[in-house]
Amino acid sequence: MSDPRQRTPMTGHEKDERWTAVDVWAKERLYPPGSPYYKEIHNALQLSESRGLPAIEVSDLQGRFLVTQCQMLDAKHVLELGTLGGVSSICLASSGPDVHVTTIEIDPERKKVAEEAIAKAGLSDRIEVLLGAGVDVLPQIRKEVDGGKRPKFDFVFIDADKPNNVNYYNAAVPMTRSRGCVMVDNVVRRGRLAEDDTAKEDPNVQGARDVIEAAGKDDRLMSSSMIQTVGEKNYDGFLSCIVK
Ligand code: DHB
Ligand code: MG
Repeated sequence: MSDPRQRTPMTGHEKDERWTAVDVWAKERLYPPGSPYYKEIHNALQLSESRGLPAIEVSDLQGRFLVTQCQMLDAKHVLELGTLGGVSSICLASSGPDVHVTTIEIDPERKKVAEEAIAKAGLSDRIEVLLGAGVDVLPQIRKEVDGGKRPKFDFVFIDADKPNNVNYYNAAVPMTRSRGCVMVDNVVRRGRLAEDDTAKEDPNVQGARDVIEAAGKDDRLMSSSMIQTVGEKNYDGFLSCIVK
């Protein structure tokens, strides 16, 4: 079987082979086979590939970056928008033995794949996959948080349909504890973020702009920043927001 780690979603002229070479080099040192959850993530990637899911999940090193963020926050309760095949959900849950992940997926087939991967990783008791559109499921979660039935989240990872970024962000901020983090994936989009004409035509780019603009004006935040990334998943970036 082909190595699912080498799958790449975008091969545009922007892609620089050094980015992948550096990811491979660093991965061999920071996250070699035998590392915690290496096998589980590899299995999840293979399952995603064999079931035809798009190869747009976080890279191994991006997944491990999420782990570092959760560990810095001492996160116990994590919310994710956009489960896909469960790769990032497994990463998030791997950040600690008592970390619980609630992840929302609109596509029943993807949810099925994710639940299989999660079961194979032995994490079914710590990762809950909810089926539905984020805009429908989030109000229910909000009710549970407001009613004291669920704790606020320490870390929220928004990685679903990009036009709804700002809706997910606005729903997430009040459910995030003080000094918790709301992180949004894919806000740079090979640099198209800064192209006015592209943003007008591409709702995904407009979705990235909208959430960055919302964060910049948001009095509910202590701070926010955006980091551009390159690597085997091409050129993109994360928005990171810390809640007051
Ligand atoms: C792509 C990457 C992502 O991480 C995502 O959530 C959606 C799309 C992409 O590379 O196209
Ligand atoms: Mg993404």
